Amino acid sequence: MKFFIDTADVAEIKDLASTGLLDGVTTNPSLIAQSGRDFIEVITEICGIIDGPVSAEVAATDFDTMLKEGRHLAKIASNVVIKVPLTPDGLKTCKTLSDEGTMVNVTLCFSAAQAILAAKAGASFISPFIGRLDDLGQDGLMLISDIVEIYSQYPEFQTEVLVASIRNPNHIVEAAKMGADVSTIPPKVIRQLYNHPLTDQGLEAFVKDWAKTGQTILAA
Ligand code: G3P
Repeated sequence: MKFFIDTADVAEIKDLASTGLLDGVTTNPSLIAQSGRDFIEVITEICGIIDGPVSAEVAATDFDTMLKEGRHLAKIASNVVIKVPLTPDGLKTCKTLSDEGTMVNVTLCFSAAQAILAAKAGASFISPFIGRLDDLGQDGLMLISDIVEIYSQYPEFQTEVLVASIRNPNHIVEAAKMGADVSTIPPKVIRQLYNHPLTDQGLEAFVKDWAKTGQTILAA
């Protein structure tokens, strides 16, 4: 499973990129607003840090303007992925940009039917928002299971399942068991993945016991 980080915070991206575990970045208009920074400038900077796909979302909602915005954003770097909403105009934009060789991430997916449309429109990624479905009392992970199953029946669908709106480590583990291609993860949740109280307790005991031996591994 590939790990993307879901943030426009460049300091967080740099910090987590240093782990060597980061495969890409996703942003959205809300995350850009949170960063308080200029959109083009921040995407350019992120593309200089991460070699993998960096999603930048269009702001318009009509086909003509989305297409112009998408083409403009795609010029920033070869690893920019244009993010479009799952609407009729968004999918038209997806088809046109994909046919031109630009990677597209179709966002705001909440049903398997929508995911089929995105694959037919040539999307490189489909972003089902599982946390927002859970918030409504629905089962977000069930949607991932459905999409993975459907896509696996059609080798001509090249779209990767990018699990979005992740709220906790269990979302990632369960999506990985289902064979989802990518998780885009908030920085806080990536850090939670490392944690287990038995790891902390075990390490504390090993450190104490090692000190009792009076030995060092590296020669002075
Ligand atoms: O970037 C899209 C998605 O991950 C947003 O998540 O937490 O706003 O539902 P959230």
